[in-house]
Amino acid sequence: MKIDGTPYRTIWPTADNSAVEIIDQTKLPHIFTTLRLETMRDAERAIKDMQVRGAPLIGVTAAYGVALSMRDHASDAALAATCSKLLLARPTAVNLRWGIERMRAFLAPLPESERAAAAWLEAARIADEDVAINASIGQHGCELIRSLYHDKVHKGRGYSVNILTHCNAGWLATVDWGTALAPIYAAFEEGIPLHVWVDETRPRNQGASLTAWELGQHGVPHTVIADNTGGHLMQHGMVDMCIVGTDRVTARGDVCNKIGTYLKALAAHDNGVPFYVALPTPTIDWTLQDGVKEIPIEERAPEEVTHISGLCDDGQVRSVQLTPQGSRAANYGFDVTPARLVTGLITERGVVQAEAGAMQKLR
Ligand code: MRU
Repeated sequence: MKIDGTPYRTIWPTADNSAVEIIDQTKLPHIFTTLRLETMRDAERAIKDMQVRGAPLIGVTAAYGVALSMRDHASDAALAATCSKLLLARPTAVNLRWGIERMRAFLAPLPESERAAAAWLEAARIADEDVAINASIGQHGCELIRSLYHDKVHKGRGYSVNILTHCNAGWLATVDWGTALAPIYAAFEEGIPLHVWVDETRPRNQGASLTAWELGQHGVPHTVIADNTGGHLMQHGMVDMCIVGTDRVTARGDVCNKIGTYLKALAAHDNGVPFYVALPTPTIDWTLQDGVKEIPIEERAPEEVTHISGLCDDGQVRSVQLTPQGSRAANYGFDVTPARLVTGLITERGVVQAEAGAMQKLR
């Protein structure tokens, strides 16, 4: 996708293949800057500190982390140690494990002397596959938006589709295109009139800072709303559909995504608004069934709740405290939406019911 008209991915190898570069997402939307990852430690830190974030991008960054590490030490022991270390970077997005396990399975049978070069190529393949998968998610999701649009016009209910999204599951959360936003970009490019309600997504504000920024870069009409606004909009017929991304989907279709997603799904259910989840199939964790009981939920620093950062009048980005001194804060990063509240899963292989039987065809 484009930044000021220039096409970018979120992660790419340097021209001499000595490192990978990323967009530092902790600085957006006010500062656009890139960072070089030269070692496995750099990749690990970028994931932990959320310079890269979003389930698919976390997986690809980890794959490059393994590749960078193989340049220093390519023994079996080094491979095992690297994988164990990277696996701990963040707990919830299963794509991290998926990316690392794919690298491990690919590299383990190879002679040590071939591992570094092969790992680099495999990480690049994973990145390219992510782009292709998301483009396909975009096409399948676009069909849903198109049909909602025609239905709306036919019934005289308006000429634009209003879509609500939570967090950032756009191209910044993947290598390119995004998951939840891929159908929106596809529909927008097709000329379907649409408008996106962007949940701010406290505490880290991925909606207000990242989703709003990338939609703005592409000229997609959007409005940022406070996190608790969605229910009101749905009650007043101002949301035609919700599309969100996910960090892990269980074999029976429970969906884990950024904290607050569950409340949107409840409101959508209560108001008859279709609630779709867009995901690449590597986001399905076939080993789990009950998402509420089994998916590990990341807890992050309380300072992300007690403080907020933004652009000050003097042009500097600063962090300020919101809460009274001494008030405790809890910071659960994700929640689980039970499958019964999900209208459908938009995958690269088509739209599938969030239900164990229907999901078998994605295995
Ligand atoms: O904590 P984050 O910013 O990594 O959380 C991101 C999300 O919750 C996204 O919605 C999810 O990873 C899907 S990304 C295509």
